Amino acid sequence: MSTDPLVIFTPSGKRGHFPVGTPILTAARQLGVDLDSVCGGRGICSKCQITPSYGEFPKHGVTVSDDALSEWNSVEERYDRIRGLPKGRRLGCQATVQGDIVVDVPPESQVHRQVVRKAATQRDIIMAPATHLYYVEVQEPDMHEPSGDFERLKDALRVQWQIEGVTAPMNIMRRLQKTLRKGEWKITIALHKGHRDETHRILDIFPGFYEGRIYGLAIDLGSTTIAAHLCDLRNGNVIASSGVMNPQIRFGEDLMSRVSYAMMNPGGDKEMTDAVRIAINSLAQSIAIEGNIDPSQIVETVFVCNPVMHHLLLGIDPVELGQAPFALATSESLSLEAQALDLTAINENARVFILPCIAGHVGADAAAVALSEEPNKSEELVLIVDVGTNAEILLGNKTRVLACSSPTGPAFEGAQISAGQRAAPGAIERLEIDPITKEPRFKVIGSDLWSDDPAFAEATAATGITGICGSGIIEAVAEMRLAGLLDARGLIGSADQTGTARCLPEGRTHSYLIWDGTASGGPRLTVTQGDIRAIQLAKSALYAGARLLMDEMGVDTVDRVVLAGAFGAHISPRHAMVLGMIPDVPLDKVQSAGNAAGTGARIALSSIDARAQIEKTVREIIKVETAIEPRFQEHFVNANAIPHATDPFPNLNGIVTLPKVNFNAKTDGEGRRRRRG
Ligand code: FES
Repeated sequence: MSTDPLVIFTPSGKRGHFPVGTPILTAARQLGVDLDSVCGGRGICSKCQITPSYGEFPKHGVTVSDDALSEWNSVEERYDRIRGLPKGRRLGCQATVQGDIVVDVPPESQVHRQVVRKAATQRDIIMAPATHLYYVEVQEPDMHEPSGDFERLKDALRVQWQIEGVTAPMNIMRRLQKTLRKGEWKITIALHKGHRDETHRILDIFPGFYEGRIYGLAIDLGSTTIAAHLCDLRNGNVIASSGVMNPQIRFGEDLMSRVSYAMMNPGGDKEMTDAVRIAINSLAQSIAIEGNIDPSQIVETVFVCNPVMHHLLLGIDPVELGQAPFALATSESLSLEAQALDLTAINENARVFILPCIAGHVGADAAAVALSEEPNKSEELVLIVDVGTNAEILLGNKTRVLACSSPTGPAFEGAQISAGQRAAPGAIERLEIDPITKEPRFKVIGSDLWSDDPAFAEATAATGITGICGSGIIEAVAEMRLAGLLDARGLIGSADQTGTARCLPEGRTHSYLIWDGTASGGPRLTVTQGDIRAIQLAKSALYAGARLLMDEMGVDTVDRVVLAGAFGAHISPRHAMVLGMIPDVPLDKVQSAGNAAGTGARIALSSIDARAQIEKTVREIIKVETAIEPRFQEHFVNANAIPHATDPFPNLNGIVTLPKVNFNAKTDGEGRRRRRG
């Protein structure tokens, strides 16, 4: 039994005996306790702060006396004088063991700290970034022992940080000598090592001790919007978030129209590649301004995107994704230089990591959703739908995870809808219809007031009421069904059949009038029969994709439904269920995961372990190709009805009463043909 003092670290609980005089940082390293350091124990960075505890600790079986740690030395005093140490804190690299001691490592001193994600589902991220800052002191050149500055830098890294195998690009080599001399042979380097890299790569160098931070961008490259999070690589904190419309929209509203553009226009793929790279560069510049940092401090970028965006970002012509067997050029994750993607707005040596694609139409964004939502760790059978112009669907639990994508088209984003528009101020985003009066009331983006509120007109005077966005049209169709204005087959009734003059004749069909702004020069907003059809097609494609996976899993019900994607966050679960967009589950089992793909990108940016994890998960995911599945069509047709032609919806029927109306003159209430005469 050692007679050396016992050092106990919390929260890890790791303990060991160390000779008197051992710095706490050394003890931590030898026990494998997560205690950060950038300056290598020179009392400069203060990343090694610890909180010693004194007194009786029956739990640990020790008594800690007041002199269990060495007195403050001049380095600590100097640091405290210049920068100030929080009360009760010591520098772990300076404080040495003198007696039995209990030492707490505060979260901000941990490299692999736990980051609690503030989203619907609590989940922790263990920080393990690929790029770290290291402070080293390099031997000055000696004529007696000729050696290169870079070789002596590598020696210093080996001795001071036990780091071997360091490489540096030429632009670093060119700056090295000046930087070393400006720092008087003290230098801080940003060193990158991915989870599959054999060697370390120097991304940046700073003279002396670099007080600044290094950052990464987590980018969800969608076909409609590009969303980015600027994250501090030290603690995973989001410093700024921003987004832009994907400029490729001018080449086609949805994925397949962009693939066709590339097919029809030689060089069309390059045009779309250039357009999106330019947009990402300007997004990086604007988010750096928003985060009040220099863009060169951004040393890493993680991309998640669907397969077509993936290929166009990489400069790969996506035409193969437009025809069976929808072969990807590559499906594995990619780690490359940002320069290779013309990302010149960020650090010149920045690294890019792109998550793996799951299948021809199930991309790195679905992988990111899986990383964020972890269906492979769920006891319950969870269905995750990421609704976009191309819906990506995951179904799984601990036993296995299935994935497919379904061509829902842009109707859920307001495209192909007569009064449709993107989610912008003035767009109707919420809607209710009184089942008795059949009168609608609604909310528009930019105001929290309902349209029947006396202050509504004034509150919306600036934006006006301009159209209906995705979440608004979903609620409108569902509310029309609930109010008996729409029958199960999606037919809008006439004014006589529905009892409201708002059901207007329109050619051989009818439309429902929501808002008439013509008196004040505004638009007249209706839901037409064509709009209903567009939503029926979109929701049937989504439902059919989910049904296919349920068939494959051999189940008729799921335990939980997660609505992912920026759009998913705005969908009302009750209305989605009335529409039959998702299978029947108890309403409290439908959750929104917000931008789960974006969160997955942040997790991958913050942790190389997560990168390895998602590669393994994706390899194990079973891909179902909806385009070649014979039962897709059958499920699609059955899902046309609202909520569904055949599948039972007991949970839904338990919370709403769907009027048994039938507006098809030729058929009876049950859709059977009426006999003539
Ligand atoms: S390691 Fe830098 S101050 Fe302790």
